[in-house]
Amino acid sequence: MRIKELGDLSGEITVFGGPYSNVQALEAVLAIARGTSICTGDLIAYCGAPDAVVARMRRENVHIVAGNCEKQLGANALDCGCGFENGTVCDRLSAAWYAFANAQIGPSDRVWMAELPDIITFRHQAQKYVVIHGGATDVARFLWSVSDEANFLEELDALNMLCGDFDTVICGHSGIAFEREIGGVRWVNAGVIGMPPHDGTPLTEFLRIAADGALTFETLAYDVEGAERDMKSAGLTQGYDVALKTGIWPSEDVLPKALRR
Ligand SMILES: [Fe+2]
Repeated sequence: MRIKELGDLSGEITVFGGPYSNVQALEAVLAIARGTSICTGDLIAYCGAPDAVVARMRRENVHIVAGNCEKQLGANALDCGCGFENGTVCDRLSAAWYAFANAQIGPSDRVWMAELPDIITFRHQAQKYVVIHGGATDVARFLWSVSDEANFLEELDALNMLCGDFDTVICGHSGIAFEREIGGVRWVNAGVIGMPPHDGTPLTEFLRIAADGALTFETLAYDVEGAERDMKSAGLTQGYDVALKTGIWPSEDVLPKALRR
C-alpha cells in the first residue's frame, strides 16, 4: 500500500474522479481547476482517448491515486478489475473498452501507473483528509450513498490502521457523487468527470474544497460531441457512447436497487 502525504495545503482544492479516457472532459476540468488538483483515479475506462488522457495527466501537476484501471494496466492484467460477474452487461461492456485501452497504452505509461499511490493524505483548515479510489480493503469496492453503514465502517477501520485518525475520506470509482456522515467521519464521493452520473443529463461531476474548507459538488459541461466522436472512431459503440449524451448508463447491473431508474 503506497501512501503519499501532501502535508498542509491552503487555498482552494479541486478534486475530480474518473476521466475514463474522456480527454474532452479532462481538458474542461483542467481549464477551470483552481489551487491544488487531486484525481481519485480511473484515468482509463469507457471512452475513446486513453492515450491522450494519460499523456495529458503525465504532463499535468495533478496528484493522482491509482484506480483499479491503472492497477490492472500497470500489472498487464487482462480485465479492468471491477469484479463484474461473468456474463453481466457490465462484464461484456468492460471487455470492449479495456481491450481497446490495453492496446493503446505503452510500457512507460504502465510503469508510471504502477507507481501511483493508493492513498493520498493532506491537511486543510485543521481537517485531515484521506483520498482513495474505491476502498482501502479493495481498490474496486463499490460504495454508494445507500450502502449499509457496516460496509463504510469496515473501510474506516482499515484506513485508520493505515493513516491514523482523519476527518474526511474522499473517494471515486462508483461514478455518482455523494456525501455521508459515518461514525463521526465525513465520507465523500467526488463523482467522475468522464461519464454522467446516470441522472439523465450529459453534465458530469467534480468537487471543490474552498479556501475556508467548505465542500461543493459542481457540474462539468464539456465537448460531449468530441468525446462521442472519439468513441465511435474507436469502435466503442456498445452503449456508453450514447450514455455521454443521454446521461443514462447502458446497464444498471452494478447499481443498488434504490439507485435504479
Ligand atoms: Fe474504478
